[in-house]
Amino acid sequence: MMKGILLAGGSGTRLAPLTAALSKQLLPVYNKPLIYYPLSTLMLANVRDILIISTPRDTPVIERLLGDGSHLGLKLSYAVQERPNGIAEAFLIAEDFCAGKPVCLILGDNVFHSQDLLRVLKQATRPGQGATVIACHVSNPSAYGVVTLDSAGRPVDLVEKPANPASNWVVAGLYFYDSAVHSIVRNLRPSERGELEITDVNRAYLREGRLNVITMGRGTAWFDAGTFENLLLAGQFVQMLELRQGLMVGLPEEVAYRMRFISAEDLAALAGRMKNSPLGDYLFSILK
Ligand code: TTP
Repeated sequence: MMKGILLAGGSGTRLAPLTAALSKQLLPVYNKPLIYYPLSTLMLANVRDILIISTPRDTPVIERLLGDGSHLGLKLSYAVQERPNGIAEAFLIAEDFCAGKPVCLILGDNVFHSQDLLRVLKQATRPGQGATVIACHVSNPSAYGVVTLDSAGRPVDLVEKPANPASNWVVAGLYFYDSAVHSIVRNLRPSERGELEITDVNRAYLREGRLNVITMGRGTAWFDAGTFENLLLAGQFVQMLELRQGLMVGLPEEVAYRMRFISAEDLAALAGRMKNSPLGDYLFSILK
């Protein structure tokens, strides 16, 4: 069974002063803390054994929110990243936790919503594939790792934050690796900005011909909620979809029930805990 890492540290400097006293990952995206969305995505990938990594300041608060995960049919554990030394450092911190198993990493500020998502997650979690990353089409590729694909959809190049991007396809914050990832990161040197770069990990797999890229189709919503604009856009997107459809986006209690991690009785108990909130009403309505 694949292990999961939810990376929820970082300094959140672009969101100051919202992040002066609070983790970015605990800020609201409409009616839920941001971290609920990537947690739900991992759960949809059928990943249940998850290590949450955050800062010395924020890890205890995140643990207060999510606990040991047993109420969601999950096994959650926690680790501290002392300093924001880069996304790839997660694999040094999580090496013992992964115990040689394949692992899925999701960034704590990434919100995914797509008709395509279950298909993509199924494909990406198939065993024995090197590394698999998810590419999304965006209007501002220069802010991300930009991937160039050949006519067969195989990656030929991957560049972090290029000034002149070769395509609009960028690597999203959801990555799948075999156990080679740990030794790759151990041999990595920090970049000019002093971080262990996830793009360098992916480039190492690319050099070995072991990087797979799955492109998400049109109608995919992917936000990294790391700026004021994107945080608000993500919230507006969730609000619009929920109001129109009457279905919630990124609610771990619902996902746990639909994935059969918990029973109807378990869900009723969770709904009871939120009975004064519209989210409680919603969970009760699912049971009917
Ligand atoms: P970023 O948005 O790249 O960085 P940040 O969160 O520190 O924010 P800012 O650039 O505004 O200062 O991080 C992407 C995600 O990865 C985010 O969820 C935080 C997480 N992260 C860590 O947990 N540790 C790290 O060392 C880094 C670089 C990021």
